[in-house]
Amino acid sequence: MEQHELFRLVRLVEVKDYCTAAHTWRVTLYMQALAEAMDVDPPDVKRLMRGAVLHDLGKIDIPAAILRKPGRLNDSEWELIKQHPTFGYNRLVSLGEDDPFVLNLVQSHHENIDGSGYPNGLTGNDIPLEAQLFSVIDAFDAMTSFRPYRPQMNQSSEGDVLEELLADSGTRYAPQVVERFVSLVRDRNLNWIRKHFNDHVAASTLIAPESLDELDALATYHRRPVKAD
Ligand SMILES: [Fe+2]
Repeated sequence: MEQHELFRLVRLVEVKDYCTAAHTWRVTLYMQALAEAMDVDPPDVKRLMRGAVLHDLGKIDIPAAILRKPGRLNDSEWELIKQHPTFGYNRLVSLGEDDPFVLNLVQSHHENIDGSGYPNGLTGNDIPLEAQLFSVIDAFDAMTSFRPYRPQMNQSSEGDVLEELLADSGTRYAPQVVERFVSLVRDRNLNWIRKHFNDHVAASTLIAPESLDELDALATYHRRPVKAD
């Protein structure tokens, strides 16, 4: 399937889930930054970024009433939500996707190192590395982004979020991944990602990138050396 058609499907999920399009592009850019910091080969960085874009595709198969339900989910609704990684995997396979990086990330992005995750309760390194990377990124973005009850995070609270990731290192997240990601956030200024793709722009109006190359160009721009006057 053509990239722009896949991106259109992702947009459908964002609108259905009331999730902002900004979330998709932020997690994709965090993935790029983390993969590059881990010296992943450039073509493989792109593959990981594709997986990040597509991570929640399976939510297409969940009724909007459940995705948008304001209160607590009942048991059967929660069981259905826990199937979204499997739904996404199956949908991608049926569309002809055969990249294991993408399929593994989509299928296992809610697994936890201690086996408490879903859908398969995998433990440790049975969880593919691409999914281990993404789950830390997804958690970081969830904790640093806008929620109706609190503003988008500022610099000082970012430190608290990193502490939370470290507290769950070894239970939810792979320790070596948390370590790499925390030092990346501390050492490199990734704030532009949150500023550029902020949650105050509705999914329906955000000018979404049309391709990974466009996102890459944006990242390159923000990494340019800043000249002192
Ligand atoms: Fe998900």
